[in-house]
Amino acid sequence: MLQRPNLLVTFIFWSSWTLNGVVSGPQTNLLHIGCSPFYEHVLSNFSTFSENINTTFREIRDEIVTQNKYFATAQQGNGDNPVSTLFQCRNYLSIPDCVACFDVASVQIRNCSVGAHGARVVYDGCFLRYETSAFFDQTTASFNNAGSCGGSLANTGEASTFTSSAQELLMKLQTTTPKISGFSAAMKTIVPNDNGTTIYAFAQCIETISESGCSSCLNAASSNMPTCLPSTDGRAYADGCFMRFSTSSFFPDNQTIDITPLKKQGSSKKGSIIGGAVGGVAFLLVLLALLAWIRRPKTPMQVPRGELTGASKLARPVTYSYKDLKFATKNFSEENKVGEGGFGAVYKGTLKNGKVVAIKKLNFRQFTRMEEDFESEVMLISNVHHLNLVRLLGCCSNGHKRILVYEYMKNKSLDNFLFGKKKGSLSWKQRCSIILGTAKGLAYLHEEFHIRIIHRDIKTNNILLDDNLQPKIADFGLARLLPEDKSHLSTKFAGTLGYTAPEYLIQGQLSEKADVYSYGVVVLEIVSGRQSNELIIHGDAEGEFLVQKAWKLYQRGMHLELVDNTLDPTEYDAEEAKKIIEIGLLCTQASTEARPMMSEVIALLQNKDLLENMKPTMPILIETN
Ligand SMILES: *[C@@H]1O[C@H](CO)[C@@H](O)[C@H](O)[C@H]1NC(C)=O
Ligand SMILES: *[C@@H]1O[C@H](CO)[C@@H](O)[C@H](O)[C@H]1NC(C)=O
Ligand SMILES: *[C@@H]1O[C@H](CO)[C@@H](O)[C@H](O)[C@H]1NC(C)=O
Ligand SMILES: *[C@@H]1O[C@H](CO)[C@@H](O)[C@H](O)[C@H]1NC(C)=O
Ligand SMILES: *[C@@H]1O[C@H](CO)[C@@H](O)[C@H](O)[C@H]1NC(C)=O
Repeated sequence: MLQRPNLLVTFIFWSSWTLNGVVSGPQTNLLHIGCSPFYEHVLSNFSTFSENINTTFREIRDEIVTQNKYFATAQQGNGDNPVSTLFQCRNYLSIPDCVACFDVASVQIRNCSVGAHGARVVYDGCFLRYETSAFFDQTTASFNNAGSCGGSLANTGEASTFTSSAQELLMKLQTTTPKISGFSAAMKTIVPNDNGTTIYAFAQCIETISESGCSSCLNAASSNMPTCLPSTDGRAYADGCFMRFSTSSFFPDNQTIDITPLKKQGSSKKGSIIGGAVGGVAFLLVLLALLAWIRRPKTPMQVPRGELTGASKLARPVTYSYKDLKFATKNFSEENKVGEGGFGAVYKGTLKNGKVVAIKKLNFRQFTRMEEDFESEVMLISNVHHLNLVRLLGCCSNGHKRILVYEYMKNKSLDNFLFGKKKGSLSWKQRCSIILGTAKGLAYLHEEFHIRIIHRDIKTNNILLDDNLQPKIADFGLARLLPEDKSHLSTKFAGTLGYTAPEYLIQGQLSEKADVYSYGVVVLEIVSGRQSNELIIHGDAEGEFLVQKAWKLYQRGMHLELVDNTLDPTEYDAEEAKKIIEIGLLCTQASTEARPMMSEVIALLQNKDLLENMKPTMPILIETN
């Protein structure tokens, strides 16, 4: 199959919204039409191509009519003049309405010129697209974040309640839809104290993408929606998904699904209190270290592992020869060494083809599951692709040696920029973008990749920065190679102390919320430019650690004081800075249930109004007086 970049010419139609309130009918209100440009050498015969298009359309229509389907794909043409076609109706339409929408779409799509190599039309009611190359797995590849707002503005008096109700509903849809089989969900909510105003919302993904694909598509699409609010109508769509909200009901009432609302508010107001006077805090850390050592779980930790049924479909990582890697790193010379991580030394290497890579020599003694699992784990990790995660390019096994080859980041890690040589060089905007990017990388590991990966060691020196200072999380997945009765904590204890969630540190309870905690600490570090495990001493007051300090300032409404004083106060918005600190505190709450999921963190970061009714509860490790 031909793989070309999908350069698409896009027209967006700002239709009038006269169809609001239409519950039934094919909903052929056109939202978008796009045509792929013409590429000379792909098609040899336009009439065959057109015939192939027609054949796929016929097959799809038949499938909808005879099998009562809302989603269908078809392909024609082997090698010559190939066509791939995809069609989807909103699941709340009746089958006759779905067919009617298809009939409108299959005519309208011909408005693209004969030579166009692809075309797509998006309606309220359905979506039709064809291309010369297969695109069924695309989520946001060619038309991302397209959307439109409509309707009137909500009653201004109630605008903020309206907006927050709508945002909450959209967020719920965004997190729920990928988990529902068929990837389609309709929900509604009544706006409080607004004369019964109801918001209806619907989300849908194409059925040929994965749960994670659906999730990232809706995430991209919905990030466009808040700009519509407080408009009473909004739509967003991309290659793999569609989302809409409106104050008029556009689907029958019996279509809504009932989900238990996401539990967001922390119910625990107490939070455990450990420790006494501040002078005792250093002692406390030692005590905790000891506790952790003694109470290491004897039984295997409950690490949720997804099914590995998809493993056969995973691509194999590249295998490098030991000789080549030795050559690339000048025999693993000190001069090429760029770091020493928890899992072994990292070297900068230049491969024979000139490509610069980071080569990590794993410290074998720590790994006992190596022999059996190394290959399958490496295969798994090398199939994790995300903008905010460091790519594993391949591996090498030589005798007892195990080596991993990663993409190289010449800017090294975030700690350099916060506490090291480059301290004070990050602008506020750059810091915000690192906070968001890191959240996206973690959300992918926790919620989107088909196997849940808990990092267990999120900290600023595991967050690398690329040439554009975008964050990329390193070392994920490696903790899975560690023997089950031994956490990384026992080896690199002191370094990660300030980052580790108390329940993991003390009881060995591991869940993705442990990463959320560490992430919260990183957020506070980025904002403050201070290290989490350093005592902050202010005047002759007693010293405090970062999380404590942040919490106490927050309680007094003075958390803006935490912001790094190397930042120019005109550079950032005080309200925004406060909210980011509050998000950091939400993540470091003592109660794991009260901490948000990473996808919720992303939603909060992108849309800080959502914070309105979320108040952080106390983190652990707060002294009593
Ligand atoms: C295209 O294909 C059709 C049917 O196979 C054939 O009749 C026609 O001559 C072809 N045209 C060209 C330009 O090759
Ligand atoms: C494909 O269908 C369209 C519309 O029905 C028609 O105009 C066109 O001639 C058909 N193409 C071929 C090659 O049959
Ligand atoms: C499609 O083409 C027809 C005929 O050229 C034209 O009347 C119609 O407005 C076009 N529709 C769109 C949406 O461009
Ligand atoms: C609710 O309805 C009453 C009576 O129609 C009106 O006076 C009031 O302004 C409405 N409130 C809102 C929030 O729309
Ligand atoms: C919803 O109600 C309509 C009639 O109003 C009925 O035809 C349809 O089967 C119902 N759908 C479901 C899923 O209950």
